This record gives sequence, C-alpha cells and structure tokens, in this order.
Amino acid sequence: MAHPQATGHVDGPSAGGWTSEDVGLRLGAVARELPALGMPGPPLEGKLLRPLVALALVPPTLRPRLDERFWCGALALQMVHEASLLHDDILDDARERRGRATVQAQAGPGAALVLGDHYLTSAYRVAARAQAPEFLVRFIHAVERTVAGEIAQGRAAGRRVSPSEYREIIMGKSGELFGASAALSGALFDLGDIEARVALGRDLGAVYQKVDDLLDYCPAAGTGKPPLQDYRQGKWTWMMDLAGMEDFSMPEEEVLRVMHAAGTSATSPVDRAAAHLEEATDELRRRALALSPGDTLVDAVLSAWVRTAKRAAQAAVFEVAEVPA
Ligand code: FPP
Ligand code: MG
Repeated sequence: MAHPQATGHVDGPSAGGWTSEDVGLRLGAVARELPALGMPGPPLEGKLLRPLVALALVPPTLRPRLDERFWCGALALQMVHEASLLHDDILDDARERRGRATVQAQAGPGAALVLGDHYLTSAYRVAARAQAPEFLVRFIHAVERTVAGEIAQGRAAGRRVSPSEYREIIMGKSGELFGASAALSGALFDLGDIEARVALGRDLGAVYQKVDDLLDYCPAAGTGKPPLQDYRQGKWTWMMDLAGMEDFSMPEEEVLRVMHAAGTSATSPVDRAAAHLEEATDELRRRALALSPGDTLVDAVLSAWVRTAKRAAQAAVFEVAEVPA
C-alpha cells in the first residue's frame, strides 16, 4: 500500500529537521544487521509511513533521546507492512506495484508467499529488540488484526458493505498497524497516554486507506498500480457510497464516468471525497499536536495526502473525458 504519489514529500525544514530520507537511513542501518542474524532486510521503499508516524508522535523535545530501540520498533512495523503487501498481491493477483512488476508476477506466488512469511516472522524478533513490552503487545495485536481485516474484506467481496462495516475493515487492514506505530513513542518513553496514541494512529491509517481507495478510481493518479482494482475485485469502498452505486453491475467505463461527473450535486464523487478528506485531516492534526507538541511531521504527511487526493481528482476529469461511453 505504499504509494509514493499518495504520500508526497515530507522533507524540508517543515518536517522539523527530519526527512523521509533520514528515516530510511536510520532504518537501513538496523536492517543491514539483520542478514547476519538470519533475518531478511526489507527493501525500505515507498514513503515509510508507519515509521514516520512513529517518529512524528515522539514529542520533538524527546527526539534527541531516540536510540536503536526506537528504530528496531519502527523497522519491525515496516517489515510487517512489506509482508502484508507481498501477501496482498498474491490475494489480489496484482501484477504491478510501485510502478513495477510484483514479486508474485516476477517469481510466482510461492516465492512471494515465503518472502512475506520471512519478513513477518522476523518482524517479531526485531520488534522485541525495541525492549518495550507495551509496544510488543500492541504490535502483536496489530498484526493479528491486520490479517483479520483482510479476511473480513475477503468475506465481503462482491457485495455492498455498510459504512460501519467498511470502517471496521479498513481499521483492521490498515488502521491497526498505524495504531501500533503510534504506540511506540508512548511505550518507549512511558508517556502514559498510549490509548490516545493508538486511537490517533488507527484513525490516521483509516484516512490513508480512504485516500488509497479514492485513488483507485483516478486513472491519472500515478499510483504505480492499475486503476479500478477494487471494483474489479468486488471490494466495496466509501467511493461507491459517494457515487450512489448499488452493486458491481456497472461497466467499468461507466463507473469512471459516474465517479468523475458533477451530476446534480454540482461536484463529482471524487471531488467530494477529496473535500471530505481535507476536513477529516484537520481534526487529526489537532490530536497529533496535543500528543506531540511542536511536531510538524503529521501535518506534512496529511497535507501531502490531501494534495494528492485533490490533484488526482482534478487530473482524472481530463483523463476520463477520453474514455469512450
Ligand atoms: C493493501 O490494501 C493491503 C493491506 C492494507 C493489508 C493486507 C493484509 C493481508 C494480505 C493479510 C496478511 C497480513 C500480513 C501482516 C502478512 P489494498 O489491497 O486496498 O491496497 P493496494 O491497492 O495497495 O493493493
Ligand atoms: Mg491490494
């Protein structure tokens, strides 16, 4: 689920001196030690959102005290994410991710399965190296709920799901890992507000999934993945509610027209989705600042998501005009 265009850049002074490249370097230093211990080093591609969220929720005054324990926790989260993508691409029979062929397309589903297994099983050992029992508990729970979310999504395939069922699915498959990311700071520094951190992380993950689900209907979004995957796989998302759809019977070209047509409400479903996301992020910014005073990372990440959503919605209007009726 790591889409470079969906996250945008969070570098520069606005990110409080930290760039996503810095985060990659620190994670890379820990990852390089893994092969000698019999574990695979993950590729550290994409925007490393889960580690970034973990870092963002360390109050800036405490950041100078970050040591290897933090980076082990952050790397473990990234390893689970990589594992989930490898397995997700098998389940979705996806051929393309991050702009190139998936592991399962290149080397077959068996190879993708065991590589994902290796990241996943090693991630527990890496998470334990954070030496933060409260984090480990949250981490284990999050991995389990991520899988449960995916199972729930699979069970719902091909049918309409209610907004609350959709929220439950995305909270599981995407929110929980962000929740564990947010827990890391609270556990390492004994901040005493771990529930609020987990809740914020879960909500951030759910918003990220909603951006991802919007981009699926924006052929010009440049996500590095083919569009309309959700619709083809019978995955009901909030976008179908916004477009007033009833089921999966509409032809694909018509779906794109409906998603990008203003209709009677004067704005298109994709525009309404982008506007909704912008509104939703305001509250998240406030909550992040309350937990991590002075942080600018969460703001930078959320602004990039909103920018991406708006651009994708607008760009697609032009693209979709070319789609024959
Ligand atoms: C991407 O969603 C996938 C996830 C957020 C979770 C996938 C979880 C599993 C496959 C269960 C196994 C989990 C682990 C931890 C090994 P998406 O399909 O909506 O996004 P995409 O467009 O990037 O494919
Ligand atoms: Mg998928």
